[in-house]
Amino acid sequence: MLDTSASLFVEYAAQVRPEIDAALDRLSRYDDQCPARLREAIRHSLLAPGKRLRPLLVLMSAEACGYNRTAALPAACAVEMIHTYSLIHDDLPAMDNDDLRRGLPTCHAAFDEPTAILAGDALLAQAFEVLAGAEFPPSVKGWCCLELAQAAGPRALVGGQADDLSAEFQGGDLAFLEHIHRRKTGALFVVSLRLGGIVGGASEEQLAALTTYGQAIGLAFQIVDDLLDLQGDTTAMGKRTQKDSHHGKLTFPVLLGVEESQQRARRLVTDACAALTVFGARAARLEALARYVLERKH
Ligand code: IPE
Ligand code: IPE
Ligand code: MG
Ligand code: MG
Ligand code: MG
Repeated sequence: MLDTSASLFVEYAAQVRPEIDAALDRLSRYDDQCPARLREAIRHSLLAPGKRLRPLLVLMSAEACGYNRTAALPAACAVEMIHTYSLIHDDLPAMDNDDLRRGLPTCHAAFDEPTAILAGDALLAQAFEVLAGAEFPPSVKGWCCLELAQAAGPRALVGGQADDLSAEFQGGDLAFLEHIHRRKTGALFVVSLRLGGIVGGASEEQLAALTTYGQAIGLAFQIVDDLLDLQGDTTAMGKRTQKDSHHGKLTFPVLLGVEESQQRARRLVTDACAALTVFGARAARLEALARYVLERKH
């Protein structure tokens, strides 16, 4: 049962998700320079019903800094494009080999492997086109592109994904697992919040608070993802469950068990909320999202 503070986020998300979806739709129409099959593959994955948590974080963070939500939309879409590309590639046979994503066949299952690889490549490039083409001041755009590139790159998302694969059946300890989760998932949460803050003109203190909050909820989010893989329902999740053990993945429930993993996620959410005091009442939605991360069923 969602508590009132989580429902504050759920209501906000229901209102704002259509704005994000409409922007992503506009950005993925393409003219005939883009082959029709590639366009369909991109749109299949990008417009599928994702939770849009990362773009919502961009917008909530910008609004917490007193900025206009609509003006921040390009940054939100850029992050969702990176995320969707990472999912398309994560699902490939060479990686997690999944056939279901966002309640639909994965990109390579609906189309074919080369098309899925290229759809991911296209979204990765377009994310930076969207950011660099936005109406933010040049210094803001440059800063945003730098941070997004770092979060998507070899020392963050891609590095985390590489270590996630290398840890299959080779195992590892808790410190290594946290190091994986912070890069493969946490970095994109942190940069979502930071981009919202940067375009929203956040102070250094606000940016630091958003970063601390993002690190904590990003890690909590992946711990819950590991728990849902073990215990969740495929229909609710829109992706297959019980795949991690099958692949010999290094996960929180494997190392700590279910109870302690849940406790750890709870502690991280408490820490996340504690970091937001600088925002006063404007922190309410971000606090609600942190609670949602714990209680989500998909
Ligand atoms: C899935 O992310 C990948 C992980 C980092 C665990 P989400 O659960 O946010 O996926 P969508 O965007 O809602 O499909
Ligand atoms: C994926 O982690 C993280 C990224 C896509 C970067 P998982 O492999 O656990 O995500 P799911 O469970 O397939 O969504
Ligand atoms: Mg994976
Ligand atoms: Mg996966
Ligand atoms: Mg998972």
